[in-house]
Amino acid sequence: MDFELKTLDLAGAAAEKCEVLLVLVTEGFKAGKDPVSKLAAAAVAAKDLETKPGKVLQAYRSEGVAATRLLLVGAGDGSGKKVQSAMQAAAGVIKASGAKRLVICLPDGAGGDAVRAAVCGTAESSYVYVATKSKPEGRELRKVTIAVKDATKHREAFAAARAAAAGIELARELGNQPPNYVTPTRLGEEAKKLARAHGFQCEVLGPKDIEKLGMGSFLSVAKGSHEPARFIVLRHNGGAKGDAPVVLVGKGITFDSGGISIKPGADMDEMKFDMGGAASVLGTFRALGETKPKVNVVGLIPTCENMPDGGSYKPGDVLTSMSGQTIEVLNTDAEGRLILCDALTYAERFKPRAVVDIATLTGACVIALGHVRSGLFASDDELAAALLAAGESALDLAWRMPLDDEYAEGLKTNFADVANVAGRAGGSITAAKFLHRFAQKYPWAHLDIAGTAWRSGGANKGATGRPVGLLLEYITAQATAKPSSPRRRAAKAK
Ligand code: BES
Ligand code: MN
Ligand code: ZN
Repeated sequence: MDFELKTLDLAGAAAEKCEVLLVLVTEGFKAGKDPVSKLAAAAVAAKDLETKPGKVLQAYRSEGVAATRLLLVGAGDGSGKKVQSAMQAAAGVIKASGAKRLVICLPDGAGGDAVRAAVCGTAESSYVYVATKSKPEGRELRKVTIAVKDATKHREAFAAARAAAAGIELARELGNQPPNYVTPTRLGEEAKKLARAHGFQCEVLGPKDIEKLGMGSFLSVAKGSHEPARFIVLRHNGGAKGDAPVVLVGKGITFDSGGISIKPGADMDEMKFDMGGAASVLGTFRALGETKPKVNVVGLIPTCENMPDGGSYKPGDVLTSMSGQTIEVLNTDAEGRLILCDALTYAERFKPRAVVDIATLTGACVIALGHVRSGLFASDDELAAALLAAGESALDLAWRMPLDDEYAEGLKTNFADVANVAGRAGGSITAAKFLHRFAQKYPWAHLDIAGTAWRSGGANKGATGRPVGLLLEYITAQATAKPSSPRRRAAKAK
């Protein structure tokens, strides 16, 4: 889909030939001399249109309007959040209209957040999955114009929004494609493809290299599958040569059957989305390829399947991780932490300024936070604050969860340094505490996206592309933020 940003007032917009002209009407809207604003003001005065976000009024072949349909949509105070709801309310009408060309008029005082909400909202609602349909019904929308008062003011926000939309779409597409298509090998190929297209450095390691690295925990999970494991290393060198990078680590379980501790059959297909963390790392790199921020970023993806087989790892097995710590497997379905822990150890070699892992890690996180906010765990307050703020501004929310050492009690075992599961209580936190053991050498955060990476069941079933918006915003902010002094860092990272 093609987005353009244009300086256009409502009189100009009325002259644009398109199927749908969408006008966001904010509180205190004033009529001008043009037909669209007169109509909007009259509709508000007659209470036929409320400026509350989500209210929609439609006109067809309206006098003085070149568009076939005019959509007046309440947008509250015109903030990003309100524009997001307005776009969601309009999505159904736009889809049903079969429009190829859409013009969206933002309110006069619109900020960058409103531009982002308009672009990402349009991209989100017009995405159509076709990859494995025999008669693909393609996406109808071809060209979208974002009309603003002064386009020069919004260039940067617009470019960032377009990049985010492309990254989110890649993450959704990889998540949605079936697990017999999106295998560890395929994720490796996608990483190479991104590297070629955008000039990233990329290495894709196979089982032999992974074994040489000593990643005994990761490789044990892969043992039950015929699909070979991959360890992906992607690098965007946007900063100065010696600058400490931000490292993103994405869980890439391309199918999680549970392994020998096999899952119940209902909804097991949804465990194709268990590579959502990996998809979000690739999606973020897709976006970085457009915006090229001046910061060094490393993406690490351990990826494999978790399957039951004669060769599978089993409950009772003791694994030796790359860190040297031994792990007793009590449940083979707690596999995410077993592949992530080795990637977290590998991350040490980059002397990172921060490591953020992203994983569809626990059903318990879905119970705790539902499908609205991702769970955020962090060993460093400054990092936590930066990630929470990035989530707020990208409208991709997270919520901080605790990491008290008492939560690690249940991970104790007589037979290894640590067990891979504790009891049922606080399951997302005990999982985070497991990872915490492997993330002692740098400021670390963990995003549990089990509730936010996809929507289950029904017509809306599918990957959301979250938290690409949050990650991209965080990295972009890092490019401009001055790193805190090494001394403060050292004190906090302890
Ligand atoms: N990928 C799952 C987590 C998951 C489950 C995400 C359902 C979204 C929906 C993970 O590998 C897993 O199976 N976790 C177990 C851990 C348990 C065995 C301690 C879980 O959450 O049940
Ligand atoms: Mn599992
Ligand atoms: Zn899993």
